[in-house]
Formats: sequence, structure tokens, C-alpha cells
Amino acid sequence: NLERIGKLRETKASMRLGGGEKRLDSQRKKGKLTVWERIEYFFDAGTFEEVGGFIDHRSTNFGLEKSRVAGDGVVTGFGRVNGMLVYIAAQDFTVMGGSLGEMHGRKIANIMDVAIANGAPMVMLNDSGGARIQEGIGALCGYGEIFFRNTKASGVIPQISVIMGPCAGGAVYSPGITDFVAMVQDSSYMFITGPEVIKTVTGENVTKDTLGGGDIHMEKSGVATYVGEDDETTLDWVKVLLSYLPANNDNAPARVPSKVPQLDVAELDSFVPSNPNKGYDIGGVIDRLVDSGSFFELQENFAKNISIGFARMDGISVGVVANNPKNLAGCLDVDASDKAARFVRFCDAFNIPLLTLVDVPGFLPGTDQEYSGIIRHGAKLLYAYSEATVPKLTVIMRKSYGGAYICMCSKHLGADMVVAWPGSEIAVMGPKGAVNIIFRKDIMEAEDQAERAKELESEYTDKFANPQLAASMGYVDNVIEPNQTRSTVINYLKSNLGKRQITPRRKHGNIPL
Ligand code: COA
Repeated sequence: NLERIGKLRETKASMRLGGGEKRLDSQRKKGKLTVWERIEYFFDAGTFEEVGGFIDHRSTNFGLEKSRVAGDGVVTGFGRVNGMLVYIAAQDFTVMGGSLGEMHGRKIANIMDVAIANGAPMVMLNDSGGARIQEGIGALCGYGEIFFRNTKASGVIPQISVIMGPCAGGAVYSPGITDFVAMVQDSSYMFITGPEVIKTVTGENVTKDTLGGGDIHMEKSGVATYVGEDDETTLDWVKVLLSYLPANNDNAPARVPSKVPQLDVAELDSFVPSNPNKGYDIGGVIDRLVDSGSFFELQENFAKNISIGFARMDGISVGVVANNPKNLAGCLDVDASDKAARFVRFCDAFNIPLLTLVDVPGFLPGTDQEYSGIIRHGAKLLYAYSEATVPKLTVIMRKSYGGAYICMCSKHLGADMVVAWPGSEIAVMGPKGAVNIIFRKDIMEAEDQAERAKELESEYTDKFANPQLAASMGYVDNVIEPNQTRSTVINYLKSNLGKRQITPRRKHGNIPL
């Protein structure tokens, strides 16, 4: 027996070497951690349990029987991240380029099944040359089974993809389905078809980086939720993200009291400029409203006209959605609608109350937006808010006009609390536009047209540039001083935590996509 134990130890030690020292060195030279270094860095010390480490492929195509490595290029298992149970599948680029064959795919599918059954988050570390070409359909089957489970797990357990190397072709669609996608700057890229194929088909010249590097997916495509400097920073980000989430859709996130002194809420009284044409960064408002230091922004450099992220209010995890007047005056457009809608749906699925901060002049006008389907995309946000049954708390800070007013979690979409600041304006549109439409004839007939327009604008402003009408109709629950917002939101939040909303049975709705 002792002999066998000794042999087992030897085998396990060699299994840790994956594709061998040379390839491990080459991995490190690219600035990447090896698969086991990643696992050790990610999990609380000594908590990782490997599952299926001996699994191997069974293909004999093109001499593949000669390159058999136990584990088949992916390490699967579970461990604790700051005490939270988390499942993982981590691809090992040193074994056949981390390529995904039948058994590699089956291992991932298997650990996903276990994660779903045990109701714990699933993290996938991607570092792979894609479908293992020699295995043909076996590889494609592997992907299909993963996508199927990604979809079944959606809304049941949080799913996080971390791209730490190549992720190309069909491989991109697992991250494409998961809730969050973190990428590593410089060493990771994602695309459906690579630069060479693009060159052949369309003649375009692109590099891997300009096609699908971290910055592209953060700023242009909206695929990346976060881009980290290196492997460590990116894994740290995932750990913090997990701290805001529940293990599954039957649980609520852990309550985490803030350790940082609270910023002065009184500063909110003068933070938002009263001139409606002046921009400001919404981050400053969020930082003063939520538990200090708790705002964890997502997709920071995509659709910057809306800010989304997790935060805590008196230790309770909330999802913040806020127009950001620093960019495009805080208008809603195609990308902002998509970004916010997906986040709202995540929060709703995982029992995270929504805090919506409104300062929105409307939807962004123009042919570009209309042709890109702002009707379809804006509808997603309306749909997502209407569908959400978690506590929905809304603060109208300044402008709130038209369809965008309705869209930003108004009372009409089922908000549990809507409060407005005294300087807010709730109307169909801003004074200038409104007066030009409803008083066009009146202005045309006036001797001094500019003077008459000004007079009418001021009349319109007196009527609508305040929250009184909305409050008198019950569409605003209270008009409060900005400095009272934090305490009011916390009071409402706590009163809403036991909220129950029964919806009629249906297979699923048909959200506009
Ligand atoms: N199937 C089988 N083996 C693969 C593979 C795949 N899809 N992708 C990479 N490998 C193997 C390589 O043959 C090589 O094996 P070796 O170490 O025995 O020589 C090893 O993985 C490392 O690949 P290499 O090409 O040397 O690494 P690189 O860092 O220079 O390039 C890629 C990485 C991903 C750009 C490149 O491997 C590639 O283009 N792979 C194919 C991508 C693809 O088209 N996939 C199929 C579509 S889903």
C-alpha cells in the first residue's frame, strides 16, 4: 500500500506539470500565471478540491493518442473564496493549447451540473485555442453541452467568465451567456473569427488586440464587464464581485457592514448643478449615497452615459443604475439601454434590490440611434424594470423627461419608492422643445417672437420644472432634501426586504432582443 501511495503522489505531482516545464515557462513568459497558480491564488488557502483530475481524452485521430495528459487540459473542482463555496473550471493552455475536446468539455459540463445542484457560483477561467481540431464533432459537442448548461444555470447561480488567454470561435459563446466577463489586459482576446480569416474574407487588416482585446470589449462591444492589468488583479476583482452576490437565486447576498467612515451626505445638497445644462459625474452622488467605498462599478468604460454597479446600503447589497450627465447629458441610447437592462435582470434574478438614480433628458435623438433600433433596445430596459420583483427604489435628482422618465424605474413600472429632489423636473419634455410645439402659432403671431417664447417657457417651467405635480398625483412618494436621501433609501429598503409579488404562471415572457 505504501508503495502505491508513493506512486500516487508521484503521478499527482506530474499531473500538476500539465503540458510540461517548457510549456509552463512559456506561459509565464507571456506574463500569465499557470493554471495551478491561478487556482491557488483564487481560492482560500487549502480549500480547493479537484474533481476529475484523472480524466483523459479517448481520441486516436491524427496521432492524438500520443498526447494524452491526465486532466485533458482543464482543471475542475471547488473551493472557498472568502468562505463562499465556488465551483471552477480552469483551462490549461500548456496541454494542447487548452483546446476543448469531448472529455475536456464533459468535465466542464459535469462541474457545472454540480454547481447548479449545490447552488453555488460557477467561475470559468478561459485560456484555450478553441475546439480541439483533431476531435471534430466531439469538440463541438463539448461546447454545445456547456452553452446548454450556461443557459440552464442563468438566473439560478451566478456565472462568471474570466478570459486569461485566447478565447476564439465558438468558445466565446459561453462567456457570451454568462453574467460577467472579466478580461486580462494584453494577454487575453475574444473574437468569433480571427485576423487571418477576416483578412481573407473582407480584406480588413486587424490585429488580435484591435479586434478583440480587453479595451475593445470594454469600450466598443460591451462584452467585457471588467479588464484587469494582470492575472492577479483580475482574479482579485472576481473575489470582490462575489462578495456582493448570493450563492444562488434562493438566497440573498451576505450583509457586509462598511469599515470606511461615511462621506458627508450634506454635500449632496449642492452637488448637482441647478443649471439643467451643466453636466457632472454621477459617481460623486453615488459615493455619498451608498456605504462609503462600497460602489463597485461594472462596464465602466462602455455606454458611459449610464453607470451601473453593486453597492451597499447599511450593509445590504443593492444594484445601482444611474444616468451619468457627464456623458451625452445622461441620455438613454442603444448601448445604455442594453447595459442597464441586463444588469436589472441580473439583480432581479438574484434578489438584489435596485436603486435607480434619475437625471435624464430623454432618449438620444438621431438616425444613428433609430436605425440601430433604439425602439427595440429601449424596450428592454422598460421590460426589465417592469418584470423585476425585487425592491425597486428610485431617486429623481434633476431632469426626468418623457419616455426616459417612465423607463428609469418610475412608479408606473412598479417602483416601490420614488422620491424626488426639490429641483427636479418631471415632464414630457424640456421647456424649449415643449413651447415650440404647443405654442408655435402663438409665438409666430407675436410681435416679439423671442420675448413671447421666453414668457411661455417660463410659464411652462413654473408648471413642470418641479416635482409638485407628480407628487400631487402620487407618482412621487415624497419630495426630500438631497441630504436626506441616504437615510430615506435605507428606511424604504429595509421596509421592502420582505416584499412578495406573485406573478401569474407563464413559460417565460418575450423580452425584445
Ligand atoms: N486544437 C488542437 N490543438 C491546438 C489548438 C486547437 N484548436 N489550438 C492550439 N493547439 C495546440 C498547438 O498545436 C500547440 O501544440 P504543441 O504545443 O504541441 O505544439 C499548442 O496548442 C500551443 O499552440 P500554439 O499555436 O503554439 O500557441 P500560440 O500561443 O502561438 O497561439 C492560438 C495560440 C490560439 C492563436 C493558436 O494556437 C491558434 O490559432 N489555435 C487555433 C484556433 C482555432 O482556430 N480554433 C478552432 C476554432 S474554435
